[in-house]
Amino acid sequence: MSNVLVTGGAGYIGSHACKALKTSGFTPVTYDSLVTGWRDAVKFGPFEQGDLRDRARLDEVFAQYQPIAVMHFAALSQVGEAMNEPGLYWGNNAGGSLCLLEAAAAVGCLDFVFSSTCATYGEHDNIVLDEDAPQLPLNAYGASKRAVEDMLRDFGAAHGLRSVIFRYFNVAGADPEAEVGEFHRPETHLVPLVLDAIDGKRDALTIFGTDYDTPDGTCIRDYVHVCDLVDAHVLGLKWLQDGKGSRVFNLGTGSGFSVREVMQRAEEVTGTPVPCNEGPRRAGDCTKLVSGSVRALNELGWAPQRSDLQTMIADAWKWHKLGQYEA
Ligand code: UFG
Repeated sequence: MSNVLVTGGAGYIGSHACKALKTSGFTPVTYDSLVTGWRDAVKFGPFEQGDLRDRARLDEVFAQYQPIAVMHFAALSQVGEAMNEPGLYWGNNAGGSLCLLEAAAAVGCLDFVFSSTCATYGEHDNIVLDEDAPQLPLNAYGASKRAVEDMLRDFGAAHGLRSVIFRYFNVAGADPEAEVGEFHRPETHLVPLVLDAIDGKRDALTIFGTDYDTPDGTCIRDYVHVCDLVDAHVLGLKWLQDGKGSRVFNLGTGSGFSVREVMQRAEEVTGTPVPCNEGPRRAGDCTKLVSGSVRALNELGWAPQRSDLQTMIADAWKWHKLGQYEA
Protein backbone atom coordinates (compact mmCIF):
# COMPACT_ATOMS: atom_id res chain seq x y z
CA MET A 1 0.00 0.00 0.00
CA SER A 2 1.58 3.32 -1.07
CA ASN A 3 -0.50 5.96 0.61
CA VAL A 4 0.69 9.55 0.27
CA LEU A 5 -0.84 12.16 2.56
CA VAL A 6 -1.76 15.18 0.42
CA THR A 7 -2.54 18.24 2.52
CA GLY A 8 -4.60 20.69 0.51
CA GLY A 9 -5.65 17.91 -1.85
CA ALA A 10 -9.01 19.65 -2.40
CA GLY A 11 -7.31 22.76 -3.76
CA TYR A 12 -6.22 23.72 -7.26
CA ILE A 13 -2.70 22.29 -7.30
CA GLY A 14 -3.32 19.59 -4.69
CA SER A 15 -6.22 18.08 -6.64
CA HIS A 16 -4.08 17.84 -9.79
CA ALA A 17 -1.31 16.26 -7.68
CA CYS A 18 -3.79 13.63 -6.46
CA LYS A 19 -4.62 12.70 -10.04
CA ALA A 20 -0.91 12.48 -10.96
CA LEU A 21 -0.19 10.34 -7.88
CA LYS A 22 -3.02 7.96 -8.68
CA THR A 23 -1.86 7.68 -12.29
CA SER A 24 1.62 6.79 -10.97
CA GLY A 25 0.31 4.00 -8.73
CA PHE A 26 0.11 5.81 -5.38
CA THR A 27 -3.01 6.33 -3.27
CA PRO A 28 -3.46 10.03 -2.50
CA VAL A 29 -5.11 10.62 0.89
CA THR A 30 -6.45 14.17 0.92
CA TYR A 31 -6.29 16.07 4.21
CA ASP A 32 -8.04 19.41 3.77
CA SER A 33 -10.01 21.83 5.95
CA LEU A 34 -12.20 22.89 2.98
CA VAL A 35 -11.72 26.52 4.02
CA THR A 36 -10.45 27.28 0.50
CA GLY A 37 -10.69 23.80 -1.05
CA TRP A 38 -13.62 22.01 -2.71
CA ARG A 39 -15.01 18.61 -1.68
CA ASP A 40 -15.91 17.97 -5.33
CA ALA A 41 -12.23 18.23 -6.26
CA VAL A 42 -11.38 15.09 -4.23
CA LYS A 43 -11.79 12.39 -6.86
CA PHE A 44 -8.73 10.21 -6.76
CA GLY A 45 -8.51 8.78 -3.25
CA PRO A 46 -9.86 8.99 0.31
CA PHE A 47 -10.80 12.29 1.92
CA GLU A 48 -10.19 13.30 5.53
CA GLN A 49 -11.37 16.71 6.65
CA GLY A 50 -9.17 18.49 9.16
CA ASP A 51 -7.14 21.54 10.01
CA LEU A 52 -3.34 21.46 9.93
CA ARG A 53 -3.25 22.75 13.49
CA ASP A 54 -5.42 19.91 14.83
CA ARG A 55 -2.71 17.56 16.10
CA ALA A 56 -5.14 14.92 17.38
CA ARG A 57 -6.87 14.73 14.00
CA LEU A 58 -3.52 14.50 12.20
CA ASP A 59 -2.40 11.71 14.54
CA GLU A 60 -5.60 9.78 13.73
CA VAL A 61 -5.05 10.15 9.99
CA PHE A 62 -1.38 9.14 10.15
CA ALA A 63 -2.35 6.08 12.23
CA GLN A 64 -5.17 5.07 9.89
CA TYR A 65 -3.33 5.42 6.55
CA GLN A 66 0.36 5.04 7.51
CA PRO A 67 1.48 7.17 4.57
CA ILE A 68 4.93 6.63 3.07
CA ALA A 69 5.31 10.36 2.44
CA VAL A 70 3.62 13.74 2.72
CA MET A 71 2.91 16.19 -0.11
CA HIS A 72 2.19 19.45 1.63
CA PHE A 73 0.12 21.98 -0.34
CA ALA A 74 -2.34 23.27 2.27
CA ALA A 75 -1.78 27.00 2.73
CA LEU A 76 -3.37 30.38 2.43
CA SER A 77 -1.90 31.97 -0.69
CA GLN A 78 -3.23 35.45 -1.37
CA VAL A 79 -0.53 38.08 -1.22
CA GLY A 80 -3.01 40.94 -0.69
CA GLU A 81 -4.68 39.15 2.22
CA ALA A 82 -1.26 38.37 3.70
CA MET A 83 -0.38 42.07 3.71
CA ASN A 84 -3.55 42.87 5.71
CA GLU A 85 -3.77 39.77 7.91
CA PRO A 86 -0.22 38.52 8.53
CA GLY A 87 -1.30 36.63 11.64
CA LEU A 88 -3.51 34.37 9.53
CA TYR A 89 -0.53 33.46 7.38
CA TRP A 90 1.90 32.86 10.23
CA GLY A 91 -0.71 30.82 12.12
CA ASN A 92 -2.02 28.72 9.28
CA ASN A 93 1.01 28.36 7.00
CA ALA A 94 3.86 28.35 9.49
CA GLY A 95 2.05 27.15 12.65
CA GLY A 96 0.04 24.57 10.72
CA SER A 97 3.13 23.23 9.00
CA LEU A 98 4.95 22.90 12.30
CA CYS A 99 2.08 20.81 13.69
CA LEU A 100 2.13 18.65 10.56
CA LEU A 101 5.90 18.14 10.74
CA GLU A 102 5.71 17.16 14.40
CA ALA A 103 2.92 14.68 13.71
CA ALA A 104 4.84 13.16 10.77
CA ALA A 105 8.14 12.96 12.64
CA ALA A 106 6.41 11.31 15.60
CA VAL A 107 5.39 8.34 13.44
CA GLY A 108 8.56 8.25 11.34
CA CYS A 109 6.95 9.50 8.12
CA LEU A 110 10.07 11.33 6.98
CA ASP A 111 9.72 12.03 3.23
CA PHE A 112 8.23 15.47 2.47
CA VAL A 113 7.45 17.20 -0.80
CA PHE A 114 6.70 20.85 -0.09
CA SER A 115 4.91 23.48 -2.12
CA SER A 116 6.92 26.69 -1.80
CA THR A 117 6.94 29.78 -3.97
CA CYS A 118 9.10 32.25 -5.84
CA ALA A 119 7.51 34.79 -3.45
CA THR A 120 10.19 33.65 -0.97
CA TYR A 121 12.75 35.47 -3.14
CA GLY A 122 11.07 38.87 -2.82
CA GLU A 123 11.81 41.61 -5.33
CA HIS A 124 14.64 40.82 -7.72
CA ASP A 125 13.81 42.64 -10.89
CA ASN A 126 15.79 41.68 -13.94
CA ILE A 127 18.07 39.13 -12.38
CA VAL A 128 18.14 35.43 -13.11
CA LEU A 129 16.36 33.68 -10.25
CA ASP A 130 18.01 30.39 -9.51
CA GLU A 131 17.68 28.42 -6.29
CA ASP A 132 20.64 30.25 -4.72
CA ALA A 133 19.09 33.71 -5.11
CA PRO A 134 18.71 35.43 -1.71
CA GLN A 135 15.34 34.82 -0.06
CA LEU A 136 14.02 38.20 1.05
CA PRO A 137 10.22 37.83 1.04
CA LEU A 138 8.18 41.03 0.99
CA ASN A 139 5.04 39.77 2.71
CA ALA A 140 3.78 37.26 5.26
CA TYR A 141 2.84 34.79 2.53
CA GLY A 142 6.39 34.50 1.22
CA ALA A 143 7.84 34.76 4.72
CA SER A 144 5.64 31.96 6.07
CA LYS A 145 6.65 29.70 3.17
CA ARG A 146 10.32 30.47 3.76
CA ALA A 147 9.81 29.66 7.45
CA VAL A 148 8.50 26.21 6.50
CA GLU A 149 11.57 25.68 4.32
CA ASP A 150 13.69 26.48 7.41
CA MET A 151 11.64 24.06 9.52
CA LEU A 152 12.17 21.29 6.98
CA ARG A 153 15.94 21.83 7.14
CA ASP A 154 15.94 21.79 10.95
CA PHE A 155 13.76 18.67 11.11
CA GLY A 156 16.13 17.14 8.56
CA ALA A 157 19.14 17.79 10.76
CA ALA A 158 17.45 16.66 13.96
CA HIS A 159 15.08 13.88 12.88
CA GLY A 160 16.40 12.71 9.51
CA LEU A 161 13.45 14.19 7.61
CA ARG A 162 14.10 14.40 3.86
CA SER A 163 12.47 17.11 1.78
CA VAL A 164 12.06 18.17 -1.79
CA ILE A 165 11.06 21.84 -1.87
CA PHE A 166 9.51 23.27 -5.02
CA ARG A 167 9.45 27.03 -5.52
CA TYR A 168 6.70 27.72 -8.02
CA PHE A 169 6.49 30.54 -10.49
CA ASN A 170 3.00 31.30 -11.94
CA VAL A 171 0.87 28.18 -12.10
CA ALA A 172 -1.91 28.09 -14.73
CA GLY A 173 -3.93 25.67 -16.87
CA ALA A 174 -6.05 22.71 -15.85
CA ASP A 175 -6.34 18.96 -16.24
CA PRO A 176 -6.84 18.45 -20.03
CA GLU A 177 -9.64 15.99 -19.20
CA ALA A 178 -11.28 18.74 -17.12
CA GLU A 179 -11.83 16.46 -14.11
CA VAL A 180 -10.29 19.16 -11.91
CA GLY A 181 -9.28 22.74 -12.53
CA GLU A 182 -8.66 26.16 -11.06
CA PHE A 183 -11.46 27.55 -8.90
CA HIS A 184 -10.70 30.17 -6.26
CA ARG A 185 -13.18 32.30 -4.38
CA PRO A 186 -12.28 35.12 -4.64
CA GLU A 187 -10.29 34.70 -7.84
CA THR A 188 -7.12 36.81 -8.07
CA HIS A 189 -5.07 35.05 -10.77
CA LEU A 190 -4.63 36.42 -14.24
CA VAL A 191 -5.61 33.50 -16.50
CA PRO A 192 -8.98 32.65 -14.86
CA LEU A 193 -9.78 36.37 -14.61
CA VAL A 194 -9.11 36.82 -18.32
CA LEU A 195 -11.40 33.86 -19.09
CA ASP A 196 -14.09 35.22 -16.75
CA ALA A 197 -14.00 38.52 -18.65
CA ILE A 198 -14.17 36.73 -22.00
CA ASP A 199 -17.31 34.77 -21.13
CA GLY A 200 -19.00 37.62 -19.30
CA LYS A 201 -18.67 36.29 -15.74
CA ARG A 202 -17.11 39.66 -14.96
CA ASP A 203 -17.40 42.96 -16.79
CA ALA A 204 -13.75 43.46 -17.67
CA LEU A 205 -10.20 42.63 -16.73
CA THR A 206 -8.25 45.46 -15.12
CA ILE A 207 -4.62 45.53 -16.24
CA PHE A 208 -2.60 46.38 -13.14
CA GLY A 209 -0.10 48.87 -14.50
CA THR A 210 0.89 49.73 -18.08
CA ASP A 211 4.00 51.78 -17.29
CA TYR A 212 6.43 49.01 -16.35
CA ASP A 213 9.83 48.85 -18.00
CA THR A 214 8.86 46.02 -20.36
CA PRO A 215 8.28 46.00 -24.14
CA ASP A 216 4.51 46.56 -23.78
CA GLY A 217 4.49 48.21 -20.34
CA THR A 218 2.85 45.30 -18.48
CA CYS A 219 4.37 42.85 -15.98
CA ILE A 220 6.12 39.71 -17.14
CA ARG A 221 5.68 36.33 -15.44
CA ASP A 222 6.85 32.75 -16.00
CA TYR A 223 3.74 30.55 -16.44
CA VAL A 224 3.93 26.81 -15.83
CA HIS A 225 1.14 24.31 -16.51
CA VAL A 226 -0.32 22.76 -13.36
CA CYS A 227 -0.01 19.25 -14.86
CA ASP A 228 3.71 19.74 -15.54
CA LEU A 229 4.08 21.17 -12.06
CA VAL A 230 2.52 18.15 -10.36
CA ASP A 231 4.50 15.76 -12.56
CA ALA A 232 7.59 17.32 -10.99
CA HIS A 233 6.13 16.52 -7.56
CA VAL A 234 5.81 12.84 -8.43
CA LEU A 235 9.42 12.90 -9.64
CA GLY A 236 10.35 14.61 -6.36
CA LEU A 237 8.64 11.85 -4.41
CA LYS A 238 10.53 9.19 -6.38
CA TRP A 239 13.75 11.16 -5.82
CA LEU A 240 13.20 10.85 -2.07
CA GLN A 241 12.25 7.19 -2.30
CA ASP A 242 15.51 6.60 -4.18
CA GLY A 243 17.34 8.02 -1.16
CA LYS A 244 18.71 11.05 -2.98
CA GLY A 245 18.28 13.44 -0.06
CA SER A 246 16.90 16.93 0.42
CA ARG A 247 16.91 19.36 -2.49
CA VAL A 248 15.30 22.64 -3.61
CA PHE A 249 14.00 23.12 -7.17
CA ASN A 250 12.49 26.12 -8.93
CA LEU A 251 9.55 25.21 -11.15
CA GLY A 252 9.24 27.61 -14.05
CA THR A 253 9.92 27.37 -17.76
CA GLY A 254 12.42 30.23 -18.05
CA SER A 255 10.16 32.04 -20.55
CA GLY A 256 8.29 35.16 -19.56
CA PHE A 257 5.02 36.55 -20.91
CA SER A 258 3.46 39.95 -20.29
CA VAL A 259 -0.12 40.53 -19.17
CA ARG A 260 -0.98 41.76 -22.68
CA GLU A 261 0.60 38.66 -24.25
CA VAL A 262 -1.55 36.44 -22.02
CA MET A 263 -4.64 38.39 -23.05
CA GLN A 264 -3.75 38.18 -26.73
CA ARG A 265 -3.21 34.43 -26.55
CA ALA A 266 -6.54 34.02 -24.74
CA GLU A 267 -8.24 35.95 -27.53
CA GLU A 268 -6.68 33.62 -30.10
CA VAL A 269 -7.68 30.48 -28.17
CA THR A 270 -11.26 31.57 -27.52
CA GLY A 271 -11.87 33.72 -30.60
CA THR A 272 -13.27 36.44 -28.34
CA PRO A 273 -11.81 39.81 -27.36
CA VAL A 274 -10.99 40.39 -23.67
CA PRO A 275 -12.98 43.34 -22.31
CA CYS A 276 -10.39 45.29 -20.34
CA ASN A 277 -9.42 48.57 -18.80
CA GLU A 278 -6.12 49.94 -17.63
CA GLY A 279 -5.63 50.51 -13.91
CA PRO A 280 -2.80 51.52 -11.60
CA ARG A 281 -0.04 49.17 -10.50
CA ARG A 282 -0.96 46.60 -7.83
CA ALA A 283 1.04 46.95 -4.62
CA GLY A 284 3.79 44.36 -4.33
CA ASP A 285 4.00 43.41 -8.03
CA CYS A 286 7.52 43.04 -9.48
CA THR A 287 8.21 44.04 -13.09
CA LYS A 288 9.47 40.63 -14.15
CA LEU A 289 9.69 37.24 -12.42
CA VAL A 290 11.22 34.46 -14.48
CA SER A 291 13.03 31.34 -13.33
CA GLY A 292 16.63 31.09 -14.42
CA SER A 293 17.06 27.52 -13.29
CA VAL A 294 17.37 24.27 -15.20
CA ARG A 295 18.02 22.21 -12.07
CA ALA A 296 14.66 20.42 -12.22
CA LEU A 297 15.25 19.51 -15.87
CA ASN A 298 18.80 18.31 -15.33
CA GLU A 299 18.55 16.58 -11.98
CA LEU A 300 14.94 15.41 -11.71
CA GLY A 301 14.49 14.68 -15.39
CA TRP A 302 11.48 17.00 -15.44
CA ALA A 303 10.20 17.43 -19.00
CA PRO A 304 7.31 19.92 -19.18
CA GLN A 305 4.82 18.89 -21.87
CA ARG A 306 2.01 21.45 -21.72
CA SER A 307 3.63 24.68 -20.47
CA ASP A 308 3.39 26.67 -23.69
CA LEU A 309 0.98 29.55 -23.27
CA GLN A 310 -1.41 28.32 -25.96
CA THR A 311 -1.90 24.89 -24.34
CA MET A 312 -2.18 26.32 -20.82
CA ILE A 313 -4.92 28.71 -21.86
CA ALA A 314 -6.69 26.12 -24.02
CA ASP A 315 -6.77 23.65 -21.09
CA ALA A 316 -7.93 26.36 -18.69
CA TRP A 317 -10.67 27.37 -21.17
CA LYS A 318 -11.90 23.79 -21.54
CA TRP A 319 -12.19 23.49 -17.76
CA HIS A 320 -13.74 26.94 -17.53
CA LYS A 321 -16.55 25.87 -19.85
CA LEU A 322 -17.06 22.31 -18.58
CA GLY A 323 -15.89 22.07 -15.02
CA GLN A 324 -17.53 23.43 -11.93
CA TYR A 325 -17.51 22.68 -8.25
CA GLU A 326 -20.57 23.15 -6.12
CA ALA A 327 -20.32 26.44 -4.25
N1 UFG B 1 -2.87 40.99 -13.15
C1 UFG B 1 -3.60 42.00 -13.76
N2 UFG B 1 -4.92 42.07 -13.50
C2 UFG B 1 -5.56 41.19 -12.67
C3 UFG B 1 -4.81 40.16 -12.05
C4 UFG B 1 -3.45 40.10 -12.32
O1 UFG B 1 -3.06 42.81 -14.51
O2 UFG B 1 -6.79 41.34 -12.46
C5 UFG B 1 -1.42 40.91 -13.42
C6 UFG B 1 -0.59 41.08 -12.17
O3 UFG B 1 -0.34 42.44 -11.92
C7 UFG B 1 0.67 40.30 -12.55
C8 UFG B 1 0.15 39.18 -13.46
O4 UFG B 1 -1.13 39.61 -13.89
O5 UFG B 1 1.53 41.11 -13.30
C9 UFG B 1 0.00 37.86 -12.76
O6 UFG B 1 -0.76 38.06 -11.56
P1 UFG B 1 -1.30 36.85 -10.68
O7 UFG B 1 -2.09 37.46 -9.56
O8 UFG B 1 -1.97 35.85 -11.55
O9 UFG B 1 0.02 36.18 -10.12
P2 UFG B 1 1.19 36.83 -9.27
O10 UFG B 1 2.38 36.91 -10.17
O11 UFG B 1 0.80 38.05 -8.55
O12 UFG B 1 1.30 35.75 -8.11
C10 UFG B 1 1.99 34.56 -8.25
C11 UFG B 1 1.35 33.51 -7.36
C12 UFG B 1 1.51 33.90 -5.93
C13 UFG B 1 2.95 34.18 -5.63
C14 UFG B 1 3.48 35.21 -6.57
C15 UFG B 1 4.92 35.49 -6.37
O13 UFG B 1 -0.01 33.35 -7.68
O14 UFG B 1 1.06 32.84 -5.12
O15 UFG B 1 3.31 34.79 -7.90
O16 UFG B 1 5.22 36.78 -6.82
F1 UFG B 1 3.10 34.65 -4.38
